[in-house]
Amino acid sequence: MVNAVYMDHNATTPMRPEVAAATARALAVTGNASSVHRFGRMAHRALEDAREKVAALVGAAPEDVVFTSGGTEANNLAIRGAGRARVLVSAVEHVSVLKAAAVEIIPVDGDGVVDRRALETRLAADDTPTLVSVMLANNETGVIQPVADIAALARRFGALVHCDAVQAAGRTPIDMGALGVDLLTVSAHKIGGPPGVGALVVGARVPLKPEIVGGGQERGRRAGTENTPAIVGFGLAADGARTGIEEFQRLAAWRDRIEDRVRRIAPAVRVFGAHAPRLANTTCFTMPGVASETQVMGLDLAGIAVSAGAACSSGKVQTSHVLKAMGVDAEEADCAIRVSLGWTSEEADIDRFVEAWGALYARAGRDARLAAPAA
Ligand SMILES: Cc1ncc(COP(=O)(O)O)c(C=O)c1O
Repeated sequence: MVNAVYMDHNATTPMRPEVAAATARALAVTGNASSVHRFGRMAHRALEDAREKVAALVGAAPEDVVFTSGGTEANNLAIRGAGRARVLVSAVEHVSVLKAAAVEIIPVDGDGVVDRRALETRLAADDTPTLVSVMLANNETGVIQPVADIAALARRFGALVHCDAVQAAGRTPIDMGALGVDLLTVSAHKIGGPPGVGALVVGARVPLKPEIVGGGQERGRRAGTENTPAIVGFGLAADGARTGIEEFQRLAAWRDRIEDRVRRIAPAVRVFGAHAPRLANTTCFTMPGVASETQVMGLDLAGIAVSAGAACSSGKVQTSHVLKAMGVDAEEADCAIRVSLGWTSEEADIDRFVEAWGALYARAGRDARLAAPAA
């Protein structure tokens, strides 16, 4: 659509042109990274160069990076492969963590921040070998978790710690050592790289059991010929994400402007996670009395792409488990949309969005008045 405004960077971030070009060039090059001849050696070099770049994004050693088919696979590999009998996860994790095993849920507060006291009580109550999994930034609200504190607490009880950093990468600095986590997930298509490729970064003290077997690739931690062209794109995107973190913070001013202006139009608007540290690009708020689905479709007709919470593979809108965990009732949660900005965002997008949102709200009010029975 000409002149469309894309405000759904948390679902997927448009691929950077230089990344698309590098991926396309790599597609035209023959070579299996496991082959010993010159073609193989060239593919291997490209793979290892990308591995270094992905490692640098999260402050890890290149040999700790295991390439996967994306964040979902990396989360599954972390939760199942860590080999811990007990898995504690926050209530606001991505479904790929929540569904990876029979997990125990740690509650969050009204702003979506993990309840550390509840985590400590659970850890103290049972000495079964445990894995704790807490995301760095939430995909729906952008709320940033105190992962370093959580990891320190978990380690006191001998637990391993996994962190889903899919939404945080390139948006807030990440240093695995400083965070104190053992396993960390990243995904290329959230940082301007190609979809269908990601990585699990595995610290030295984790004896990871592979989920996919049948080949020695990735140091025996994930079998299967690596997707070299996509990984080359991932590497370049990781480089850009690492160096662009400071620039990314400018988006906070535009996010705040959206929140100020929608609140001026409808004072009953509720912004979720507003009192917690959040990613600069993400806001999740209600249009009072108007279903998320109606808003997403109405805004789409106005040429603006946003989402109703997480982009779900079924395309259906369900009450957000994230907002539910934050104590929001279903009626209010079902009126929330997520607006997520990124490197393609422009200042004019903010005006376009607020104008369309205001018009939709006014129209919904008119429709409600017309539908109301006469007094
Ligand atoms: C927090 C989080 N974790 C994991 C994933 C899954 O990543 P992928 O789409 O690469 O499988 C997503 C994608 O939306 C996400 O937002």
